[in-house]
Amino acid sequence: MKPTNRIRSWEITSESNYKNRREFLRDAGLIIGGSLAASASALTLSAQANVRDLETVPGPYSTDEKPNSWEDITTYNNFYEFGTGKEDPYRNAQEFVTRPWSVKVSGECDKPGEYDFEDIIGPHTLEDRVYRHRCVEAWSMVVPWVGFPLGNLLKRFAPNSNAKYVRFKTLYDPKQMPGQRRAVLRWPYVEGLTIAEAMHPLTLMAVGVYGKELPNQNGAPMRLVIPWKYGFKGIKSIVEIEFTKRQPGTSWEMAAPREYGFYANVNPEVDHPRWSQARERRIGGGLFTQKQPTLMFNGYADEVAELYAGLNLRKNY
Ligand code: MTE
Repeated sequence: MKPTNRIRSWEITSESNYKNRREFLRDAGLIIGGSLAASASALTLSAQANVRDLETVPGPYSTDEKPNSWEDITTYNNFYEFGTGKEDPYRNAQEFVTRPWSVKVSGECDKPGEYDFEDIIGPHTLEDRVYRHRCVEAWSMVVPWVGFPLGNLLKRFAPNSNAKYVRFKTLYDPKQMPGQRRAVLRWPYVEGLTIAEAMHPLTLMAVGVYGKELPNQNGAPMRLVIPWKYGFKGIKSIVEIEFTKRQPGTSWEMAAPREYGFYANVNPEVDHPRWSQARERRIGGGLFTQKQPTLMFNGYADEVAELYAGLNLRKNY
């Protein structure tokens, strides 16, 4: 497949939103001499201007639901390394340095090593994939990710027959990540998948959103997206990948094992101990939007249910 330079509908929308906001800011006196005054809105614009366009091809599996706006996707985030408030990551991650970046690959594989970010994405065709994004806190979005199947990357490291799980780790750098100076979670953030989940073609190593490089607050330069699992499995700013024999511990499971399990499959029938998972609120729909029913495996049951054949999903939440 060859990369294309198609114009996507959301690019047109996001460009016109951008212009409208600029006009609004100019009228409101927030653009001074062509540059932007320091304000929360101005920060959004500069974040938008800093990220490069990516060459992509359409990926399989996209939902035809309307994606959330760039604004929703990049200002309402969970990235506790930059604070626990939803807007903290976009406020506090703007200066986060993501180049040069390398990833250490270790464990049960024939090609361990330290790989540069450029080596990692180099051979992969970048695909647009519009996925439902369901957070454990019962809100959701639709996100046009850019990435490539994680399995294609993992195969390059030649995992051996002992590799039953894959463990991922986020950067640990309290100088840059103010949230890591507090023990909100055990740092660095870690996540894990079974090898079958990691190799599933829906599982994405995302490097962009809306046809542009990932903004820092969304996990630059690369993060996981596993659309049938709750968003917390989508570990951001990955620096380590390890193939393991045993099921690895994961950050949220270690923090609150009764509330967050290893699997974290979206399941409307299995409630979080403190709230129902049967319905979800779509971000960006306005104050009076009704919650909508949550779908089993976030609507991806046809593709992934077989991965859990015979597994008790109540016990293995
Ligand atoms: N990765 C790291 N390193 N730190 C985090 O706090 N939060 C998780 C996940 N990945 C998190 C993380 C949670 S709880 C969610 S819902 C998603 O990121 C949010 O991704 P988004 O901000 O791109 O929507």
